[in-house]
Amino acid sequence: MKEYVLKNDDFLVSQTDSKGTIIFANDDFCAIAGYSIDELVGKPHNIVRHKDMPKAAFKDLWDTVKNDKIWSGYVKNRTKDGGYYWVYATIYPIYDETRKEKTYLSCRRKPSQKEIDEAQMLYKTFK
Ligand SMILES: Cc1cc2nc3c(=O)[nH]c(=O)nc-3n(C[C@H](O)[C@H](O)[C@H](O)COP(=O)(O)O)c2cc1C
Repeated sequence: MKEYVLKNDDFLVSQTDSKGTIIFANDDFCAIAGYSIDELVGKPHNIVRHKDMPKAAFKDLWDTVKNDKIWSGYVKNRTKDGGYYWVYATIYPIYDETRKEKTYLSCRRKPSQKEIDEAQMLYKTFK
C-alpha cells in the first residue's frame, strides 16, 4: 500500500482523554491520516492503528504515560484510504484543568529513513 513520507515541517498533533479517546487533532494530523476533525474526535486512537505495529509497543506507551512519564517511539500508522506513514512520536501526560482529568498529547515529526528501517527491524522481532 502507498506510503506517505512526511515532509520535514509536518508536525502531527493529537490529544486523547485518559482512556485514549481522541479529543483534539491538528490540521497536519487530519490531512495526513485522511480524516476530517469530526471523524476523529470521540473515536478511540486505534482508529489509525496499523496492523504491522506490535502490541508490545502500545503496552509500553500506555505503561509509560500512565506513570506520568513521557514516551517516545516510532509508530507506523494507517491512513483512511489504506496507506501508511511513519512518525517519531513523543507523548506527554498532562493534567487538564478544564476537564479535571489527565489527558495525553502526542507530537509527531518525520523520522529519517534509517530510523524507520531500524524500527521496522526491531518491531519484526516483537512478533
Ligand atoms: C496521545 C496518544 C496518541 C496515540 N497515538 C497513536 C497513533 O498515532 N497510532 C496508534 O496506532 N496508536 C496511538 N495511540 C495508542 C492507542 O491508544 C492504542 O493503544 C493503539 O492504537 C493500539 O490499539 P489497541 O490498544 O486497541 O490494541 C495513542 C495513544 C495516546 C495516549
